[in-house]
Amino acid sequence: MKEKFYITTPIYYPSGKWHLGTCYTTVVCDALARFKRMQGYDVFYLTGTDEHGQKIEKVAQSHGMPTKKFVDKQVESLKKIWKLLNISYDKFIRTTDEYHQKAVQKIFQKLYDKGDIYKSEYEGWYCTPCEAFWTEKQLKENKCPDCGREVELTKESSYFFRLSKYQDRLIELIENNPEFLQPKSRQNEMLNNFLRAGLQDLAVSRTSFKWGVPVPFDKDHVIYVWIDALSNYITALGYMGEDDSLFKKFWPADIHMMGKEIIRFHSIIWPAILMALDVELPKKVYGHGWLLFGSDKISKSKGNIIDPIILSERYKVDAVRYYLLREIPFGQDGAFSNYAFLSRINADLCNSLGNLLSRTTAMVNQYFDGILPKSKKKGEHDSELIEIADNVFEKVKDNVDKLLIPEALTEIWNLINRSNKYIDETQPWILGKDEAQKDRLSTILYNLVECLRISATLLKPFLPDTAQRILSDLSLQDVNEFSENTKFGYLKGGEKITKSQPLFPRININKELEEMDKLASMLEKKNELGKGTNEIKKPEIEFDDFSKLDLKVGTVKACERIPKSAKLLKLTVEIGDEERTIVSGIAKSFEPDDLVGKQVVVVTNLKPVKLCGVESQGMVLCTEDENGIVLISPQRDVPSGSVVN
Ligand code: ME8
Ligand code: MG
Repeated sequence: MKEKFYITTPIYYPSGKWHLGTCYTTVVCDALARFKRMQGYDVFYLTGTDEHGQKIEKVAQSHGMPTKKFVDKQVESLKKIWKLLNISYDKFIRTTDEYHQKAVQKIFQKLYDKGDIYKSEYEGWYCTPCEAFWTEKQLKENKCPDCGREVELTKESSYFFRLSKYQDRLIELIENNPEFLQPKSRQNEMLNNFLRAGLQDLAVSRTSFKWGVPVPFDKDHVIYVWIDALSNYITALGYMGEDDSLFKKFWPADIHMMGKEIIRFHSIIWPAILMALDVELPKKVYGHGWLLFGSDKISKSKGNIIDPIILSERYKVDAVRYYLLREIPFGQDGAFSNYAFLSRINADLCNSLGNLLSRTTAMVNQYFDGILPKSKKKGEHDSELIEIADNVFEKVKDNVDKLLIPEALTEIWNLINRSNKYIDETQPWILGKDEAQKDRLSTILYNLVECLRISATLLKPFLPDTAQRILSDLSLQDVNEFSENTKFGYLKGGEKITKSQPLFPRININKELEEMDKLASMLEKKNELGKGTNEIKKPEIEFDDFSKLDLKVGTVKACERIPKSAKLLKLTVEIGDEERTIVSGIAKSFEPDDLVGKQVVVVTNLKPVKLCGVESQGMVLCTEDENGIVLISPQRDVPSGSVVN
């Protein structure tokens, strides 16, 4: 039977303020989940949204929307970001899901029946942004000690959880199980600042607002949002629900991953609740560092673009994933800068990886008609290269096991860089001129393809799209697990090798930094206007600008898929008395046959571009929602070639 692996992100506040830092936990967990799946684990990757509490209620009010409607909208936009970033979660839980709310009530009831929850008076300070209670003593200069913001004096009747009762067991847990709370620095922080200072019982209900799960036996109270939220890790698996088979299979969690600011809730309150429920504890709680923009977690330093959607669309999703995984020392804070981001793309993705791919596949095509030759004549530098290739999987795996994520990627790049050096050392382009060197050239290209293949195989969990493109060029469509494919010598020769298209365009960094500055100030203006989230509003244009577009109605005469592209369809469109070939990225929503005979709106004077080797002479207009892509068509059929204005 497969071994299980249960990994979670925190559930996100659906406040609509998504930025690159928000994506950090999910991208890291995604890479880990994908890596474990390829290792053959039965993986369950959970994420979701934390929708209750005063904070969300207030944000919804500030948008003038009913709370549920507001969170529904935010959840949709968050799911779009996860989809764009290729986040392969197995389940998305919302704390407004009915099964979750019912289970939370049962959990609360069980704790009450057991005597671990009791009713009393609460008087203290509440920080709404953190949804956290503080005593007078804990405040820093009368402000929240976590975030430095204003706190409100709160006095109300409240239910309390006997957190103090678990103090000794919690100290023991952290002291005796060094693996439980990681990285190690967080252990002393929790022990010294909280546990040894003495735990107080925790107020776990509120009466001053209604947006939450009602206490089952006292409807004036709603359950404290952190009790509601933390429970998601078990309710998502069916704990206290109708079917708890997932709970039986996957609990305890192998890793709860999160940013360091919420470690306290996960390493003190959460284990205490589980102890009270008699439920096994998670194996590991990991508090990673923050992605900093300027000097703090959220503010941006001038000109930095931190919108994950804009960055992904402009530079590709894998550039964003790579930056987050490679550039931030895992467990520590790391500052984002446009310059560092662009430099990583150029140096590692475009140059090192891109060059290895393009040089290798081009030479196999030039010298061997695109068919991988067998290895025939060994020579200098081979054994050193092969040894690196043969050992890289173990090294990457060791790093992933220790959650050393940038280090895991560094190992892969060691192989990529060594392979590029091997090309320079062996100079295959010179051997290619001499028929007598054909056997040696065969071996060199075989070795290079193998190194490229192993690199791409290991990259798959980290950069799924990029790795898949490389593997497809090597005729490997479905590399879904690590097997003997992590060893050198897996390909036998004879495989078709396609000459690759560039993976990442080379960036002119100075010029691009200027562009990013312009874009950033445009975005800033949009934010000042308080406009919706993550959409660019384009600047106003003159009528003359608009009239430069030549839009016409066309009729689709033929349509086919473009081999090797999951996204593109090739359309033949009749526009008046001419016929155009148009390549369109709509394949995920249409079968080619569905489109024949349909009328579409075409931008006919767009400069032609080559996409996957096919020249596209124009563009068809479409829009998209969660159900997929739809084409923009005239309301009824009109003669093809009709002008749109
Ligand atoms: O805390 N750098 O949700 P959240 C790195 N609902 N990580 C960051 C970041 C940054 N700049 N900004 C945010 C909550 N994150 C609660 C959790 S769990 C039972 C309840 C990370 O939306 C943050 O550290 O504020 C956390 O891991 C995740 O985004 C969600 O944060
Ligand atoms: Mg937060």
